[in-house]
Amino acid sequence: MIGSDIPVICLDGPAGVGKGTICLAVAGKLGWHILDSGSLYRITALQVSRQFSNIDVDSISKSQLFDIAVNLSVSYVEEDKELVIYLDDEKITQLIRTEEMGEKASKVAAIPVVREALLERQRAFLQAPGLVADGRDMGTVVFPDAQLKIYLTASAEERAHRRYKQLKEKGVSVNMASLVEELRLRDDRDMNRPTAPLKPASDAIVIDTTSIDIEQVTSEVMGWVEKRI
Ligand code: DC
Repeated sequence: MIGSDIPVICLDGPAGVGKGTICLAVAGKLGWHILDSGSLYRITALQVSRQFSNIDVDSISKSQLFDIAVNLSVSYVEEDKELVIYLDDEKITQLIRTEEMGEKASKVAAIPVVREALLERQRAFLQAPGLVADGRDMGTVVFPDAQLKIYLTASAEERAHRRYKQLKEKGVSVNMASLVEELRLRDDRDMNRPTAPLKPASDAIVIDTTSIDIEQVTSEVMGWVEKRI
């Protein structure tokens, strides 16, 4: 990519479509590395909210935001077959997974200097034998020359339903109507920002997952891998 022969599979799409699960399944089958690019925006949001408690992100200077994003000290470590994320020495794997942090991440991700600060860090994940990258702009901006670009979609209702089931299994009580509303708001912000908006790359394969399950999506993606890589 950008001067590299190492193959990349891009998995882009809206919040809650199952990119993370498909990314792990495909990377597991191929023995490749993964990039969960959303985690970098979530970690940036966490740092911003810690350093500027309750301050609207629009009132923080661009250079301060750039400095936070470019200097994140993050590591991804496999522990007992689980991927654990560290910010400095602190385990933040669960802390960044909340709906609140997703919402904050979507806000910081709309700021061009934050995207610029995270660009090279994302490209550095490209290591042999290959990378499966999940996010919003993997195929359009970060890895424009990728061998395979997949764009996953599903209706907001179906995505909210999946999220609802996951949260209920964890014992978290949630309201379905507010989940749909939150997803719609996040879609709207991610799709309509001027910089790197969420959209399929012109050469992406679009898979609508509304009425198919994870196994079917994974096997469809693997079918494209066999054809293209
Ligand atoms: O994939 P996720 O839900 O963890 O991402 C959180 C937010 O980060 C998402 O709402 C938009 C932003 N994001 C982005 O702008 N570009 C990416 N490549 C990945 C995530």
